[in-house]
Amino acid sequence: MSLTTIVGIAALRARLDAERASGRTVGFVPTMGYLHAGHASLMARARGETDVVIVSIFVNPLQFAPSEDLAAYPRDLAADTALAEAEGVDVLFVPTETEMYPDGVVRTNVSVAQVSAGLEASTRPTHFDGVATVVAKLLAIVGTCRAYFGEKDFQQIAVVRRMVRDLSLPVEVVACPTLRDPDGLALSSRNIYLLPAERAAAPVLHAALLAGRMAIDAGEVNPAKVRALVADLINAEPLAHLDYAEVVDAETLQAVDPLVGELRLLAAARFGKARLIDNIAAGS
Ligand code: PAF
Repeated sequence: MSLTTIVGIAALRARLDAERASGRTVGFVPTMGYLHAGHASLMARARGETDVVIVSIFVNPLQFAPSEDLAAYPRDLAADTALAEAEGVDVLFVPTETEMYPDGVVRTNVSVAQVSAGLEASTRPTHFDGVATVVAKLLAIVGTCRAYFGEKDFQQIAVVRRMVRDLSLPVEVVACPTLRDPDGLALSSRNIYLLPAERAAAPVLHAALLAGRMAIDAGEVNPAKVRALVADLINAEPLAHLDYAEVVDAETLQAVDPLVGELRLLAAARFGKARLIDNIAAGS
C-alpha cells in the first residue's frame, strides 16, 4: 500500500474506521516532525506489530511556553514524507493548526497530576499539560490502536500511560528504546542545534547516567549520592549546563529512598542553544 497524506480529522477517521471494520489493527506514531532514525524505529516497530501504520506530524503550540521558540522548531515535510514512505507507513496525518484548534482557543485541558510534576516540569511547568491535551486529542481522533512512544521522553510516556489508564482510552501504549549514536548521544531533533564542540561534549549526559547505574549496581542505595555522582560528571564538562540529575521510581517518577525496585536515572542539560534530555533504567 502506498502512503496517503491526510489533513482533515473526518477523512482520517473515515479511513481508520474502514480499516478496523475490515479487521485490520492500527499502529499510531505521534510526532512533531523533523523525523530521524529514532522515529523510524518507532514506525518499524509499529509496521511489524500492526496492519495499518499512521504517523501524525503536528508541532503542538500548547506544549511550548511563550519563552520557547515555537516558530523556530525545525520542520521539513518533504524529508519527513520520504522517511515515512521508506518505513512503509500507510497514512501521514498532517493537520493544520486550524484543523486541530478551530477557533484558536483551547478550553479543555488535560492535566495528569503527580507524574507531570518535577523533572522536565521544573523548568517547563506547562509542558506536560500541553502534551497530555494534544495526545488525548490525537488518540480520540485515531481511535483504537497501539500507540508508539520513544523512551527518550520518559516522563512523557509516564504521563501518557497514566492518562490512557485514567480516561480508559482504547489504546495500548508501547514504549520503545532510545536510539543512540555510537558515542551514546540519544537521537533527538534538537541535536541539529549543537555546534561541533557541543556535539563532542554532549555524550557526557549518557556517560554520567551510566556511571550512576554502575554505582547502583555496585550497591549504592543513597539517592543523594547517586544524584551527586551524575551531576558532578556533567558539571565537569565546561560546555554542559546542568538542569537536573535525578533517580526516581520508574513508574511513579517519585523519589525513592533507599534506592530499591525499578528505577530510572534521568538528566537534562543545555549545550549552547540545545537543551538535551536522557534517561536509562537502573535497579532490579
Ligand atoms: O514527543 C513528541 O514529539 C510530542 O511531545 C508528541 C507526543 C507528538 C505530542 O505533541
